[in-house]
Amino acid sequence: MVCRKAILEDVEPLAQMIEEYAERGIMLPRSRKVLERQIDQFVVAEIDGRVVGCGSLCRLGTDLVEIRSLGLRDECKRMGIGSMIVEELIKEAQHQQIPKIMALTYAVNFFVKNGFSVVDKEVFPEKVWTDCVNCSKQNACDEIAVLKMI
Ligand SMILES: CC(C)(COP(=O)(O)OP(=O)(O)OC[C@H]1O[C@@H](n2cnc3c(N)ncnc32)[C@H](O)[C@@H]1OP(=O)(O)O)[C@@H](O)C(=O)NCCC(=O)NCCS
Repeated sequence: MVCRKAILEDVEPLAQMIEEYAERGIMLPRSRKVLERQIDQFVVAEIDGRVVGCGSLCRLGTDLVEIRSLGLRDECKRMGIGSMIVEELIKEAQHQQIPKIMALTYAVNFFVKNGFSVVDKEVFPEKVWTDCVNCSKQNACDEIAVLKMI
């Protein structure tokens, strides 16, 4: 298993994985065009040349990034791969000297196990002005906010 920065060749498997999760209401959809443009923000986990997981970082402000599009193929869950992707994203945020990393998630325990704390969504005003305005769940968001200082 390797965890590495994504390259353009990963767009197709990434698009398929994200599409499946978007249909289940767990992720926001990302078009292939957007993925191509934002490919530098993604990391992928690969087993025997096959992309089995991904995650991305989105800058929300001068000191804050958000983990987005984090997910694995169902058959690859609970093997530590999600934690490795988060570790890689944290390293990337550290490299960019960004001190705070957050996520909106249903997998709260997973993030707590990875050193995040549950926080009030209201502490992230920047978030409201980016993806949330386009989300169908905007006024009924039931995701939990988690934050880690790095
Ligand atoms: C959440 C997800 C990325 C976790 O990846 P993973 O590789 O299965 O997780 P790990 O094996 O690294 O798990 C580490 C710990 O987190 C906890 N955990 C794992 N998945 C969890 C989940 N879905 N919900 C709550 N806690 C979870 C477990 O306690 C686990 O430790 P254990 O196996 O020793 O009990 C993966 O389940 C997934 O793709 N889920 C669907 C998409 C999703 O919800 N993404 C998050 C959106 S921000």
